[in-house]
Amino acid sequence: MSRPPVLEIPVDDSQQKTSPDNNLTPTETENLETVAEAWKHVIRDVFSTRTDPNIQTNPEDKSGRTLDNVNIRTTLQICSNGGGPAIYGDSEVVPNNSNGGGGKTTSVLKPSPSVGISLENLLEVPIGGSGKNGAAENGSGMSMMDEAWEQLSRSYVYFKGQRVGTLAAIDTGGETLNYNQVFVRDFVPCGLACLMKTDADVDIVKNFLLKTLHLQGWEKRIDNFTLGEGVMPASFKVIQDPNRQKEVLQADFGGTAIGRVAPVDSGFWWIILLRSYTKCTHDYSLSELPEVQRGMKLILNLCLSDGFDTFPTLLCADGCSMIDRRMGIYGYPIEIQALFFFALRCARQLLKPEHDGKELIERIDKRITALSYHIQNYYWLDFTQLNNIYRYKTEEYSHTAVNKFNVIPESIPDWVFEFMPLRGGYFIGNVSPARMDFRWFLVGNCIAILSCLATPAQATAVMDLIEERWADLIGEMPLKIAYPALEGHQWRIVTGCDPKNTRWSYHNGGSWPVLLWLLTAASIKTGRPQIAKRAIELVEQRLAKDGWPEYYDGITGRYIGKQARKYQTWSITGYLVAKLMIENPSNLLIISLEEDKKIAKPKLTRSASWTC
Ligand code: GLC
Repeated sequence: MSRPPVLEIPVDDSQQKTSPDNNLTPTETENLETVAEAWKHVIRDVFSTRTDPNIQTNPEDKSGRTLDNVNIRTTLQICSNGGGPAIYGDSEVVPNNSNGGGGKTTSVLKPSPSVGISLENLLEVPIGGSGKNGAAENGSGMSMMDEAWEQLSRSYVYFKGQRVGTLAAIDTGGETLNYNQVFVRDFVPCGLACLMKTDADVDIVKNFLLKTLHLQGWEKRIDNFTLGEGVMPASFKVIQDPNRQKEVLQADFGGTAIGRVAPVDSGFWWIILLRSYTKCTHDYSLSELPEVQRGMKLILNLCLSDGFDTFPTLLCADGCSMIDRRMGIYGYPIEIQALFFFALRCARQLLKPEHDGKELIERIDKRITALSYHIQNYYWLDFTQLNNIYRYKTEEYSHTAVNKFNVIPESIPDWVFEFMPLRGGYFIGNVSPARMDFRWFLVGNCIAILSCLATPAQATAVMDLIEERWADLIGEMPLKIAYPALEGHQWRIVTGCDPKNTRWSYHNGGSWPVLLWLLTAASIKTGRPQIAKRAIELVEQRLAKDGWPEYYDGITGRYIGKQARKYQTWSITGYLVAKLMIENPSNLLIISLEEDKKIAKPKLTRSASWTC
């Protein structure tokens, strides 16, 4: 492979976001809204032909447009290899009067040959399965959605009378540890649920964003060492100061966390949620506040500063993200790289070019180009690429090297050869000199899809892989955070004999219901909602009855996690967000980005899974 071309993205000031009307690129807004509108029509249409009066869809989107403004003749283009991305599918907008103004919509849904369940089935069975009124039940007759909303409201944390976040868990049974805190990453699905619900509850999201921004401003010290200004907290809690007789906030920046690692993901999630808030509310006054602009810049300065790097990826310590214990994810983990890319693209939309903003935007553009090239080329693994690596020569020197990182083929673990299907592919866990971590990590792959770090073909291939390896990656309870588990000697040396991360438990191949929202978003984005539907049905069989555990254990995720908290808030809101999106796919727009045509495409040899 030749050296990456250095591509400069011209800064198009006309697309700089300074006002509500041009905050997103016109193409992005148009394409996403067209798809969303199309989806709403498809769902409403099919539902309206039913006799069940209890099935309802949201008749209005958040901007107040009614569904009757346009008719959309939709053909969700399903590729021959198993489903083309809806976002890239054909949606034809027809003026209302083209059919006499009666508002009748024609929906042509082609089934996906790659899945047993067709799109028609997705719409035939009320999502939520078996309970009365077509809704899944929690075991006591209450609908799961109702229970989830109720549980969510129980988790609200108040500061000076305002809701500022949600507790990680409200399990009265176990040891509290730090689960009585508001975790930044945990709040993301909570915030999204609040934004996506019919009467969006935006205040809590705004308060959360402002409170965590305020905490960022604190001087952060671990022992005698002062952390970077931009570091966002992993978590915070409200305590009553007995001396001052008032509520105060106490934040953790990694100083009290297991392993004393700062959360690299917090700042990225904060920027992503800020963009979601802005996209949902059209309230640009928040992101345009000088202190909010400054907060974003501080986060970005931590990642864009010059150093010794030879790669555009971000060098991290183990345990710096959702997997917050030693799990061999140090180096350049895909989860952080994908979140980094997502946050860069969100910041690109929100940053104002005034003062030093323009220069920062130029740095962001360059990094976006370099990062996407690097990840799309070097992290991508499918059957063809695996075969290439298997045949790599080593000790190559100079620019002409094919095996750039000098990966020794003998280091490819046996399981990959078994696991890799002919159809499908994924971004591997980590790439650094002589090291490829071939493990599958769900968060990084789904975030790559939502942020368009994955090309459309790669996004499709990831969903293909999930279908092909359903038993391994979804099993009985969605979803495996990582696959496969580290066992025996490897577990000893990689985790340091961590008793919480034994094989197929917790971060080491455990199953996390919260990840359902990410899978659902990726499924809808790639035009494969049937994948989400299958996963949601599995969750609905057990999650509420089991008391909304944090995670499940076992190869298939059959057992409630050994140390899992019950009533884990993000298990509850992960379910809510998944349901809110599948029932009203326009909600995807709140968390998903459209492809940026200016980002260079990779020149990889394509395997069969790429031929969409
Ligand atoms: C555990 C998880 C972490 C999560 C926290 C609170 O530490 O590993 O990702 O944020 O619990 O739920």
